[in-house]
Amino acid sequence: MKKETKCTAPGKCILFGEHAVVYGQSAISMGLKNFGSECIITRITEAGIQFNFPDYQKFLAFSNLIHMIENIPNKFSQFALGLKKLAETYNIKFEYVRITIKSSIWSGSGLGSSASTAVAFIRALNSYYDFKMDDNKISELSFEMEKQVHGTPSGIDNFTCTYGGFVFFKKGTYELLKIPENFNLLITYTGKPHNTRMAIEQVRTRKKENPKNIDQIFSSIGQLAQLAKKELDHRNLEEIGNLMNKNQEFLAELGISNKVINKINNIAISNGVYGSKLTGAGLGGCVISLGTKIALKNTKNTLKKLNLGLKFYNF
Ligand code: MEV
Repeated sequence: MKKETKCTAPGKCILFGEHAVVYGQSAISMGLKNFGSECIITRITEAGIQFNFPDYQKFLAFSNLIHMIENIPNKFSQFALGLKKLAETYNIKFEYVRITIKSSIWSGSGLGSSASTAVAFIRALNSYYDFKMDDNKISELSFEMEKQVHGTPSGIDNFTCTYGGFVFFKKGTYELLKIPENFNLLITYTGKPHNTRMAIEQVRTRKKENPKNIDQIFSSIGQLAQLAKKELDHRNLEEIGNLMNKNQEFLAELGISNKVINKINNIAISNGVYGSKLTGAGLGGCVISLGTKIALKNTKNTLKKLNLGLKFYNF
């Protein structure tokens, strides 16, 4: 067994199809390289399992797996589930290990911090214990952890954080897409963290109240994702921007946009971007804007002047 292993995983952002993808519609997402998570596994001399979450200034020590499963705070319980599944599958006793997990992704921003940490964690354990899991298996296990965090996710987040790049996703099937040249994206964090589980639940309630209308919206969003896939092949960035704007309108109809998101979108559009929309579960989180470098620079400068505490990431 190695003395130390470090693995990383990217964050993600959804370009098209959030929420509708939970109900089987098509979606497109992309991995955010250099904006993700890392997991370090270190062999230690003390018996038991230690967890170190520097982002939360939390250090947890457990005498064994059962002690961990029973005592880990809810916020981190997906990691206990991950270890439990691995222990069952590979018949391994986790001991004498410290697991450090950290992420540069803004928590609750919709950029996949939970999926990214899950993938980095499973990848690092895979490497440290030499389980020989392939990417599919890594994504599958991370999906189990994601369910623990979000309830009924589609699987797009763990999938994207495992494979990176551009992903066309429809429940159970996927295609890795080529990233077009000059695909410049500005990601703006509203500063308001969102709760994916809550947003999914809110949309589910809406669907129960008005199934025909919401199914129609989902299917329109799915069609936009399919059109966007074609336009990505043709590298038609302006049309992709138009489709993003349409997707945003449908997300607003689902009730998951808000004033700050609308404001950021409007400012981006008035600065000449091709398109702008919320990304992820909504009700806060981030906005993505696609455009020329200069349009995105002007958008960012205008937004900065508002002093709303927004954060930015350029792809
Ligand atoms: C979250 O990143 C995207 C949602 O569509 C949920 C999911 O697909 O699991 C809101």
